[in-house]
Amino acid sequence: MRTKSSKKYGRFSNDGSEYIVTTPQPPRPWINYLTNGDYCALCSHVGGGFSFYKDHRFNAVLRRGRQQHIEDLPARLIYIKDEDSGEIWTANVHPFGKADSFEARHGMGYTSIASSYKSIASKVKYFVPPALDAELWDFALTNNGKSSRRLSVYSLCQFQLGNVSLDEHEGTFMSLFNESELGPQQIVARKKWWHPHMGWAETNGIWAYRAFVTTSVKPDRVLSDQDAFFGPFRAHLNPLALQSKLLPESVTSGRELAGVFQWRIELAKGATWHAHVAVGVQSNEDSESNRKTILDLQKAETYDLAWTATRQYWKDLFAGIVVKTPDKDINAMINSWNKYQLMINFHFGRGPSYYHKGQYPAMRDSCQDAFGVIPIAPELAKKNIMRIVGFFFRDGSACGGCNRMALPEGPSEKVDLPLWFTLAVADYLRETGDYAILDESASLMDGGSSTVYQKMLGGIDRMLTDSGEHGLPLIGKGDWSDPANMIGAGGKGESVWLGQFLYYVIMEIKPLMARRGDQERLDQYLKRAAELRSAVNERCWDGEWFVRAFKDDGTPVGVKGQEEGSIWINSQTWAVISRISDPERLNKCMDSVEKHLGTKYGLMNLGPAYTKIDTTIGTITRFPPGWKENGAVFSHASSFNIVAKAMLGRGGDAVDLFKRILPMGKDSDTYLMEPYVYSQFCAGPDSKEFGRGAYHWLSGTGAWMFRSMLDYIIGVHPEHDGLRIQPAVAPSWKQFSVVRKFRGATYRIEFNNPNGVETGVKDVTLDGRKIAGNMLPLPSDTDIHFVTVTMG
Ligand code: GLC
Repeated sequence: MRTKSSKKYGRFSNDGSEYIVTTPQPPRPWINYLTNGDYCALCSHVGGGFSFYKDHRFNAVLRRGRQQHIEDLPARLIYIKDEDSGEIWTANVHPFGKADSFEARHGMGYTSIASSYKSIASKVKYFVPPALDAELWDFALTNNGKSSRRLSVYSLCQFQLGNVSLDEHEGTFMSLFNESELGPQQIVARKKWWHPHMGWAETNGIWAYRAFVTTSVKPDRVLSDQDAFFGPFRAHLNPLALQSKLLPESVTSGRELAGVFQWRIELAKGATWHAHVAVGVQSNEDSESNRKTILDLQKAETYDLAWTATRQYWKDLFAGIVVKTPDKDINAMINSWNKYQLMINFHFGRGPSYYHKGQYPAMRDSCQDAFGVIPIAPELAKKNIMRIVGFFFRDGSACGGCNRMALPEGPSEKVDLPLWFTLAVADYLRETGDYAILDESASLMDGGSSTVYQKMLGGIDRMLTDSGEHGLPLIGKGDWSDPANMIGAGGKGESVWLGQFLYYVIMEIKPLMARRGDQERLDQYLKRAAELRSAVNERCWDGEWFVRAFKDDGTPVGVKGQEEGSIWINSQTWAVISRISDPERLNKCMDSVEKHLGTKYGLMNLGPAYTKIDTTIGTITRFPPGWKENGAVFSHASSFNIVAKAMLGRGGDAVDLFKRILPMGKDSDTYLMEPYVYSQFCAGPDSKEFGRGAYHWLSGTGAWMFRSMLDYIIGVHPEHDGLRIQPAVAPSWKQFSVVRKFRGATYRIEFNNPNGVETGVKDVTLDGRKIAGNMLPLPSDTDIHFVTVTMG
């Protein structure tokens, strides 16, 4: 399945947990995120990238380049200068491109680069440990030549500090508020003016944090003046300061700050020189503990301990769920990279990437990310759920965003947002049985407070009477499909998908409400659900698929015979997920999806793509045909569809689609993005650039690909009363297994499929005893349990 081209630039390690980039110039910077959930460093295969603390918009630490995805600068550079020849290169290889060998490894929590040039081998490893808000650089140079070498080694980082949008808007002015303080082995950098808004504001605020850079080996020089480092008419390729024996002695404030150390070393033949640098952030206080953090980072053993802790953290976090299918690519994704991508999305939403800029954790996305993380780390998911719960209003509406800094947000007009919260909490409860959470109270944005349970229902309540001419919910300014924002701008347009989604949410919350005895309200919901079911079936079926929406004037969107946008994926997929129709129609609309939207890379969001601006549909029609929601192969929507296929028992189709979406199966020269994580989309067949990937890393695809495999293909799905086992696999999968932690116990489940069926469970044994049905009861201990499932 993997093409030659995807191997041209790299490969996975044997266990799939590392991606090894074998050239300094893959088609784009291929990046990693190094984080403890708060401090986050985006780090490319050559050390490019930036960093921030919690919120990339307001707490920048290391500077982001204006063209980061093209130049991949600034970077965490280790310059090396041969004192005799005067030649300069970097351990990163970038930006000089000078290397006799190169290999970068992206792994869970770290990125390392090994290269050599003219007999000097260098190794640099960047990582962020779990309990420290800093990125640690561990680097070593070895002289493999025949004689001793005199070298100068320089580490360079560039600070941005604080509010990024102001810095990008008025950088020189903003740098007036920079302040730096130098010690023999450290630099501390502060910002004396700061506010957490995207635009200008009068403020009396100071940045609550300060950045620092320190090292384990006393340098010969320390420099914080970025201008003095680069000099005029120069940049990373020829910094002025490297022309002199020693860096200038220049401490600066009121200008751009860098963090530069210089070590002058003599490296005997065969000898290795080793040093560390830490770049981090701490509260802006001159406290004992802050000073100690920096002093500890001047000792080599701190880095060794931090490295061990980093490896252990990710290993432990991912140990609770391990799948083994006959497909190596699927295993590499599910056991390592998909989980890792999911954690990054979970912590930072659709915020910081080489392509995303101003975005931040949005409500809809954050709820889906929590849904993805629940089986891996329910306690972490709970923390996020209890953070998200603070972004609701009394009328049941939710904020568009749920930022990490608890800054107040306004209400969103998208009515689907609170329903994603309902789903996330319902899933959390099935996973944990932690029903007490429902009565926990949280404040409302517009004053007062209400319980988690009330917030789960508030969004549904709002939609009970919200019904258009076809009996469907009003689409307003758009639903899941954000840029379908004009269909209902006049207040009358309706969304078929939203009707299906609401129906699904009601069905999902039904057992919970029944459990709580909230019968009267549930009856009301079920009445609305029945109305939705008949509206969808009687008024939205066009013979082969479901209509997507109705415009303000009642015209259907996404109906057979329309020249553009005649079929949209989500109203097919969610018809199945919600089980709102009969199996015949559901199977038929799935066939229509493959027939009209299927490509070798996954499924288009809609087709044929819009070529003309339609102001009654919205921004979606303004994207180039085949791009973004306008007919791109949209990974997130495709991953929903895997669930739908599996729910219909079409295991072969589900696995086939899963494999089409995998990033490593794509031709890297066309796809360009990283082969180890999902991107938001790749251009669809209506684009001349069919297959070109875009918007790496940050996408709901992470959550849904993971859950689609775990819960629907392998088919181990938590319910209030146990773990349901309902696989839907490719007929060629004769044996597969999963380790699944659930409510403190560990289930080691082996599947046998002797007759190569796609779905169906013949028998299940639990710890050697056959059980009735396909539901493992709730565990009463924290032991390891052995389960055998025979399909048939
Ligand atoms: C992006 C958004 C998500 C939205 C989707 C479709 O992935 O982050 O919230 O649902 O696009 O518009």
